[in-house]
Amino acid sequence: EIQKRLDEFKLSDEILQQIMDILEAEMEKGLNRGTHSEADVKMLPTYVCQLPTGKESNDILALDLGGSNFRVLFIRLRENEEPVIVNKVFIVSESIMKGTGEKLFSHIANCLYLFMKNHNLDMTRTYPLGFTFSFPCRQLGLSNSILLRWTKGFLCSDVVGEDIVATLQKYIDARGDIKVKVCVLINDTVGTVMSTAYYDRKTALGLILGTGTNACYIENVDRIGILESYVDPDQKQMLVNTEWGAFGENGSIDFIRSRYDEEIDKTSINVGKQIFEKMVSGMYLGELVRLMILELIDRELIFVDEMKKNAYRHALFTKGSFYTKYLNEIETDSNSKFTRTKRILKELAGIENPSHEDCAVVKCICMAVTKRAAKLTAAGLAVILKRMNRAECTIAVDGSLFRYHPRMQAVVEKTLTNLVSSLNKFKIVLSTDGSGKGAAVVAAVAVENDPIFK
Ligand code: BG6
Ligand code: GLC
Repeated sequence: EIQKRLDEFKLSDEILQQIMDILEAEMEKGLNRGTHSEADVKMLPTYVCQLPTGKESNDILALDLGGSNFRVLFIRLRENEEPVIVNKVFIVSESIMKGTGEKLFSHIANCLYLFMKNHNLDMTRTYPLGFTFSFPCRQLGLSNSILLRWTKGFLCSDVVGEDIVATLQKYIDARGDIKVKVCVLINDTVGTVMSTAYYDRKTALGLILGTGTNACYIENVDRIGILESYVDPDQKQMLVNTEWGAFGENGSIDFIRSRYDEEIDKTSINVGKQIFEKMVSGMYLGELVRLMILELIDRELIFVDEMKKNAYRHALFTKGSFYTKYLNEIETDSNSKFTRTKRILKELAGIENPSHEDCAVVKCICMAVTKRAAKLTAAGLAVILKRMNRAECTIAVDGSLFRYHPRMQAVVEKTLTNLVSSLNKFKIVLSTDGSGKGAAVVAAVAVENDPIFK
């Protein structure tokens, strides 16, 4: 009975190939003007056409919003010198994440002011700012970005459809105590590519596997049929933000979704949206494990004696209580003692004496959920690698799930090696400085000839 449920998470090579074919077709639909509106993978142009050269030079402020941390950064870029980066994490409370746009943007502007004041930045000078904003935006240029929808845990009112750069600028200017010009807005996938490409020019693909998931890659401009603004004809390539988290919204991958995936979607703040993301990213994996444990409890297949003692008083019955970080610990626990698994079960669920078998089942569930996420990620990367068809490609990666999960990188790498030809060599590199540095590099180039920032 348990195995039957675990098997629902298995993906054979044939199924992965099928998913790749569907994703490839969706990407093509997204890139083309005639089919773009019905595509669930939006393939958004970013207007970032060049990788960094290392010659960028300026003092730049950056904001990084949309992952597990909101950061304000100050980055000093100088030709042939290691960038100096100072950053501070500020809290964005749940009430701000789901409140009004006004509350969110005045909070951001306030954090920026506090950062500048506490770091003794010159308040008389105008600083350029690069904004890493990790949500889908329809861009008409580097500083013109319309929010298409909120994703992950954000749901602020009156922001969808607005120009994010102009909105942030309005709230900064309204304060009257700081001089900052918002020059560029980029997605976190783009920031990750730019950060990594600063050291490795073979970088052509960026992956985020954190709270959410997404990828961007270098596409030929002549294949981006949906470009709306002028692009210098000398620029032959551009980073495209796939927004692959939305893959599956039209039902195309329902055949691999389990009842737990459906449940996650039904109880989410964005029902019917971000279907692929809900199967793959850190915001949801812990919850998938919890839902499966609950099902086994219901069927009296796990914790049978424990439930008799304490039924339904456990935190385990609360949505969101099983954090994705528990998967990291449980999957590396020793099979002989299950010390960490027992500690987590006790802390979380008051389960004092889980049997050895119960612990083993919990570990198997975690592994099944992780493995499926890793394989789906690899399938997505394989589609892009094939599309770019480069002899060598560095894949820049960031995000808490990829960074901290003990097996994630290995499973992604192994699956990807099986899925792509040996003619498309790839190397996976963890981005070191987060996406903020990427925004600073893009901003430095954008304001290069602007005398205000000299
Ligand atoms: C980092 C970024 O690169 O990775 C964030 O600086 C980004 O902006 C993040 O969203 C993804 O990771 P997580 O795990 O914080 O969602
Ligand atoms: C969500 C966002 C996307 C972002 C990703 C990773 O999918 O829509 O823009 O890149 O999360 O943070």
